[in-house]
Amino acid sequence: MTTRLATPSARTRVAAFCDRFGLRIPILLAPMAGVPAPALSAAVASAGGMGAHGALATTPGGIADWARSVRAASNGAFQINLWIPDPPPARDAAREAAMADFLAAHGPRPAIPEGPFLPDFDAQCRAILDAAPAAISSIMGVFPDWVVAESKARGIAWFATATTLAEARAAVAAGADAIVAQGAEAGGHRGAFDATTAEAQLTGGLALIPRLADALDVPVIATGGIADARGIAAALTLGASAVQVGTGFLRCPEAAIHPAWADAIGAAEPDGTALTRIFSGRLGRGIANEVVRAAAPPAAPYPVQRALFAPVRAAAEAAGDPRAMQMWAGQAARLAAAEPAGDLAQRLWAEALALLP
Ligand SMILES: Cc1cc2nc3c(=O)[nH]c(=O)nc-3n(C[C@H](O)[C@H](O)[C@H](O)COP(=O)(O)O)c2cc1C
Repeated sequence: MTTRLATPSARTRVAAFCDRFGLRIPILLAPMAGVPAPALSAAVASAGGMGAHGALATTPGGIADWARSVRAASNGAFQINLWIPDPPPARDAAREAAMADFLAAHGPRPAIPEGPFLPDFDAQCRAILDAAPAAISSIMGVFPDWVVAESKARGIAWFATATTLAEARAAVAAGADAIVAQGAEAGGHRGAFDATTAEAQLTGGLALIPRLADALDVPVIATGGIADARGIAAALTLGASAVQVGTGFLRCPEAAIHPAWADAIGAAEPDGTALTRIFSGRLGRGIANEVVRAAAPPAAPYPVQRALFAPVRAAAEAAGDPRAMQMWAGQAARLAAAEPAGDLAQRLWAEALALLP
């Protein structure tokens, strides 16, 4: 078996990616639901990278407002991201009651939620297309055919998140223009298409990136645990054409996250994060605080669990109590620098370039 020694070279791949998507540096802000921060996107986009909005819980009007805010501050590129909805959740009154009992020990007792839990998905899809971003992006599945057709008609690229080669191939077959290879190091939710199999799809970036790069004919965007120049150069050397950084931007002032969360990121060892379903019912990686480490009953499915946890989260944030806060973070959290995002993006790229042949 032969090894593909990064042919074409990392620099060639980066140049092709940047040309195609209108960037000067191959650093993408990761879409992060709950961290809309238009100023963060504008700063990364103005630095030559790509901004991002995780629009999971954003109404169509909110999506338009977000795009307007970023455009008022930057001419740069951005992506808008949606989670592909899971099948309707199976409701289980006994399980939800047991979870409410558990959560009552960590905050206010949640009411059993009724739904609807999130804005209408088709209306969100129309809104992200109407916002005319450089790219729309997906996680946990593939966009419906009509969204893919409409994005192509409008010249909007589609970046699809994958955690396995099988998911990546399904996304390419559905029309994805690039694959976001999400390693197990990543902060936030796992992109597994099937919520129930997420625990079995935890390949680290070191193995996932080259496999996808070797097997696919579309560019690979590496994400998960990349927060300094070494990680960027490594991911590009492994075959990626660009990197997508989430946790690494969360300590920037423009991210404006809760100070207790920012502090926890700055102090977290790689083993100080953990995978959990407690926050939403979908598997995700966050700071291993008290509520994550506690012996909890089985979580309700997404998005029921997300609604159950919401009052606990709100109370913990209001009290500034990190024990029950929802503090998403990847394994490279400790590398996240607390500096302005535009400076950070440009510094990281300059340092990464020095590491690349
Ligand atoms: C706070 C937070 C929210 C996230 N929300 C989303 C989301 O809405 N959509 C998505 O595709 N990925 C989401 N992710 C995952 C990121 O896009 C990306 O895969 C991850 O941040 C990469 O790992 P890193 O945090 O180690 O850089 C989120 C990550 C974080 C930390």
